[in-house]
Amino acid sequence: MGTKNTLVYTDEKGIVVSEPSVVAVNMRTDEILAVGEEARKMVGKTPAHIQAIKPLVDGVISDFEVTEKMIKYFIDKVHAESFTLAPRPRVIIGIPMDITEVEKKAVEDAAKSAGARQVFLIEESMAAAIGARLPVTEATATMVVDIGGGTTEISVISLGGVVTWKSLRLAGNALDNDIIEYVREEFNILIGEQVAEKVKIKIGSAAPLKEPMEMQVKGRDLINGLPKAVTVNDSQIREAMSRTLGQIIENIKTTLETTPPELVADIYEHGIYLTGGGAMLRGLDKEIAQATKIPVRVADDPLTCVVRGTGILLTDPELLEKVLSPANE
Ligand SMILES: Nc1ncnc2c1ncn2[C@@H]1O[C@H](COP(=O)(O)OP(=O)(O)OP(=O)(O)O)[C@@H](O)[C@H]1O
Ligand SMILES: [Mg+2]
Repeated sequence: MGTKNTLVYTDEKGIVVSEPSVVAVNMRTDEILAVGEEARKMVGKTPAHIQAIKPLVDGVISDFEVTEKMIKYFIDKVHAESFTLAPRPRVIIGIPMDITEVEKKAVEDAAKSAGARQVFLIEESMAAAIGARLPVTEATATMVVDIGGGTTEISVISLGGVVTWKSLRLAGNALDNDIIEYVREEFNILIGEQVAEKVKIKIGSAAPLKEPMEMQVKGRDLINGLPKAVTVNDSQIREAMSRTLGQIIENIKTTLETTPPELVADIYEHGIYLTGGGAMLRGLDKEIAQATKIPVRVADDPLTCVVRGTGILLTDPELLEKVLSPANE
């Protein structure tokens, strides 16, 4: 369950749901109109009585009732497509490091009232490392940087636990906002969140590109209120995002500084692994490698590392036992 995307994995079929964490609610009747991709399309386009709610903010539940409904919708959807699945399944859910006991309880309660028989909570960076097939239970350290929509989690894992970590409320959404701000300041044009995200994915980069790229963006001219299009290039977008990216990189360095030296030596040997959607930003691996002098690898299919990690844990109770979040004890 991420700020941006929610994925579901079943031991029978693998990844069965991968949709934006958005729920459209009719505020007059409290009725759910759409969940996931269908609801995402409504963001910013709904009439007053319909709200497209993103129930997770910075990786944690901000709207309990809507989160519960979203989980229930996805569990029901999975059931509707499978006859063999237990009606009240065991569920493993990834949670961020920087989460309070109350927030943990909220995740567990939301899953239980959505129909889960038993709920296990696992740290998302641990799940991401397992999904990336890293040796999490061995006496050797690995560093995982998961850059999602709301949060960037930097974790050093060794012997089945997270040794040092840092969680920042700076990730993909912040980069989108940087682009919105830049276009407003430079061109006096207001663009929407979804447009900004498209620009980031299409031409965004953390390091200069071999081939320059540009694209047209459409928004509202803040001077006369009319629609207007403007062309932006990769170097402008890089400049727009540079402060946020600099802060993320700076925090990776400080996390390394607070990591015991033996573990840093291991990390130097294995490299830093990037997961989460933000890992796919062009040149980010290179920039981090240059700043830390440590090799950096983008995990295979970074958007699904966390859910594939929880999937591996579903079928490996021994490993689950070793890496469970302290919340379960
Ligand atoms: N090719 C890409 N380049 C840059 N960013 C990308 C790319 N593809 C996806 N993203 C970004 O990745 C983010 C979503 O990643 P992910 O699904 O891992 O987040 P999440 O798990 O929902 O959020 P969080 O972990 O913060 O709760 C979005 O901000 C999205 O714009
Ligand atoms: Mg995430």
